[in-house]
Amino acid sequence: MKTLSEKLQETTDFLAEKGIKEVSFGLILGSGLGELAEEIEEAIAISYEEIPNFPVSTVAGHAGQLVYGTLSGKKVLALQGRFHYYEGYSMETVTYPVRVMAALNAHSVVVTNASGGVNESFEPGDLMLITDHLNFTGTNPLIGANEENLGPRFPDMSQAYTMDYREKAKEVANEKGIHMKEGVYMGFSGPTYETPAEIRMARTLGADAVGMSTVPEVIVAVHNGLKVLGISCITNLAAGMQANLNHEEVVETTQRVKAEFKSLIKETLAVL
Ligand code: HPA
Repeated sequence: MKTLSEKLQETTDFLAEKGIKEVSFGLILGSGLGELAEEIEEAIAISYEEIPNFPVSTVAGHAGQLVYGTLSGKKVLALQGRFHYYEGYSMETVTYPVRVMAALNAHSVVVTNASGGVNESFEPGDLMLITDHLNFTGTNPLIGANEENLGPRFPDMSQAYTMDYREKAKEVANEKGIHMKEGVYMGFSGPTYETPAEIRMARTLGADAVGMSTVPEVIVAVHNGLKVLGISCITNLAAGMQANLNHEEVVETTQRVKAEFKSLIKETLAVL
């Protein structure tokens, strides 16, 4: 069986042939937030199916391609549609794109997602700067043999969400008059939305928002020594805080706030 490093070599060799060699920022675009990739200049887009060792995304609202190019003057590699644990992929697969970003020398990753608001002061449509996370997925993408060339056995998660990036994102939000919230993201495996009891638990444990992504990718980003900026779009109030939950509402809310979301990310990227 191939090691992770060997797979990464195959993937990056393929991407190099397509003209994708050096990246500064990885961008992971969550449900309904993929449109930002359309603003990438001199873009090279490659469908996931074509890429060696890449899985294929299965969720509606996720386009399933890598887009490489320049955004806000930075060389970016955007993931338009991510892989979720609930789709049945292994954690290694879910986080593989982050490994690819790191293998292409990215120094940072911007991670975005749609989430349910747990903090009672949040409203659907709010953007939340992720300050920290709670890993409630029931597993960890780093379980298994550690490849020392990729990162340490016991990564320090004390500052997973880079302080300096958080400060810069807040400055940009202030300048633009965006009332960005901030808080802790709690990652569940999904695919069920949480129960109201789970949401009460989440709040008691210190969560401000809940979702089904991001945590594995950020763990792997930290393992690879990448800086992280995380922005969540609060698409709904979490279970028990509104009548019912559905994916249509999640997509509708991202569509409503996408202009604000895109400009926050672009202008923050410009100053990172
Ligand atoms: N829970 C989990 N994931 C989500 C939610 C939610 O309420 N909203 C969007 N993604």
